[in-house]
Amino acid sequence: MTQHHDTLHVIDHPLVQHKLTLMRKKDTSTNSFRRLLNELSTLMAYEVTRDMPVQHIEIETPMETMLAPVIDGKKLVLVSILRAGGGILDGVLNVVPGARVGHIGLYRDPETLQAVEYYFKMPSEVAERDVILVDPMLATGNSVVAAVNRVKALGPRSIKFMCLLAAPEGVKTLQQAHPDVQIYTAAVDRELNDHGYILPGLGDAGDRIFGTK
Ligand code: URA
Repeated sequence: MTQHHDTLHVIDHPLVQHKLTLMRKKDTSTNSFRRLLNELSTLMAYEVTRDMPVQHIEIETPMETMLAPVIDGKKLVLVSILRAGGGILDGVLNVVPGARVGHIGLYRDPETLQAVEYYFKMPSEVAERDVILVDPMLATGNSVVAAVNRVKALGPRSIKFMCLLAAPEGVKTLQQAHPDVQIYTAAVDRELNDHGYILPGLGDAGDRIFGTK
């Protein structure tokens, strides 16, 4: 089930919430964290893609011909914000294997918390396509706003943003900068700390996926 406030969709399905709780626990191993992120992203992808257009085509079952629904329109574009976005990307690709994939490399300047771009590689055809931008943590919102600015310049038909955890500050920043972007998350946490980390959160998503520190 999804709770929906304006552009914010909180996916409160019990399987999603259970896996998120396991991911938050500090003793969860890198191996388990990665597997849970993959599973959780696949489950979330089910809601995020709910409004994909379908058309009906004629097929033959072993019994008779019928008109059956298939996904219509141009292929989706998934855009992953490096490096932690890769964990969600893999989970979404499990169920949308034909999607095109772009990457944006952004790091947060630890002093200013502003996003600095170091990599940008997109599929050639983003114009008129639906884009799902992925990053596990919507913290200050600065990186996501910067990524949406870059993707919007390519003329997509729509952009959705998918994360695991959001801070109220990040939701507000993204909604103010891009009121047309639908936001999907498994939870909205209490607040950011002075270093831009989400509380209670799950720590540094990239470090927990890759076992770095
Ligand atoms: N990025 C993370 O990985 N964790 C946070 O809590 C905030 C931003």
